[in-house]
Amino acid sequence: MGKNSLLADSSDADQLRKYARDLAEVYKSEKQKRKELDAANQQLTKYADDLNSAILKLKAANQELQEAYLDTIHRLVLAAEYKDEDTGDHIIRMSRYAALIAEKLGLPDRDVQNILYAAPMHDIGKIGIPDSILMKPGKLTDEEFDTIKTHTAMGARILANSRAKLLKIAEQIAISHHEKWNGKGYPQGLSGDEIPMVGRIVGLADVFDALTSKRPYKDPFPVEVAIDIIKKERGQHFDPDVVDAFLKNINEILKIKSEVASAEHTSLSDCNYSGSQFSSSRFNS
Ligand SMILES: [Fe+2]
Repeated sequence: MGKNSLLADSSDADQLRKYARDLAEVYKSEKQKRKELDAANQQLTKYADDLNSAILKLKAANQELQEAYLDTIHRLVLAAEYKDEDTGDHIIRMSRYAALIAEKLGLPDRDVQNILYAAPMHDIGKIGIPDSILMKPGKLTDEEFDTIKTHTAMGARILANSRAKLLKIAEQIAISHHEKWNGKGYPQGLSGDEIPMVGRIVGLADVFDALTSKRPYKDPFPVEVAIDIIKKERGQHFDPDVVDAFLKNINEILKIKSEVASAEHTSLSDCNYSGSQFSSSRFNS
């Protein structure tokens, strides 16, 4: 083995040692990077968990607030409703009828939900009508009927100027739920499409429930009789499309009627609408 060959071997060995050292450095640096990445990942996972739990807490608080809000509305509405109705079930039934019709007419989910929660306020203006007229068992004089009619405008005034969308819709319902498709309703004598859709829907739901309920001045009509009256008023009192949606889904309407009748105490906050289905903690139990 010559001198040159020995020198070459020694230089290769040095080179190899250098590669090994470099490789160890790269490995060490990669290991450190991976460690940092793992730590960052762990931190991110912790942030995500914290965020999730904050969102859940916020949702629970929101839900509680919404329930308190709906419960407050329900109790205020009852103050007006107890004047001529014993249980307050009328507002639960008619609101659920109205929401169902709205859903079947293809209104967006948000509007259906707003109708469900705003419809109970339709008669809030009755709070300003004397009991002697509101609860009179016999026929009303023209003057008394004129006084009753003012509950629409009075309700709208109570609900006016709110920034809340729900109360804006409630105001629209209060002022328009006694208008008739043929223009012979009150207070403004609007006809056809001039009447807001929410008023046309709630108007029918209100009449059907009034017909099939006991009132100080009348016994309940049988369901078949009430349906006949609604059919005859198609295109007269009521929007034909609203009547069609009501009749096509009469079985679901009657299901709501029997559910509310069998529920002991119901409140607005017991009714929910999400997507294409209604649910109620009491009605479904
Ligand atoms: Fe009314």
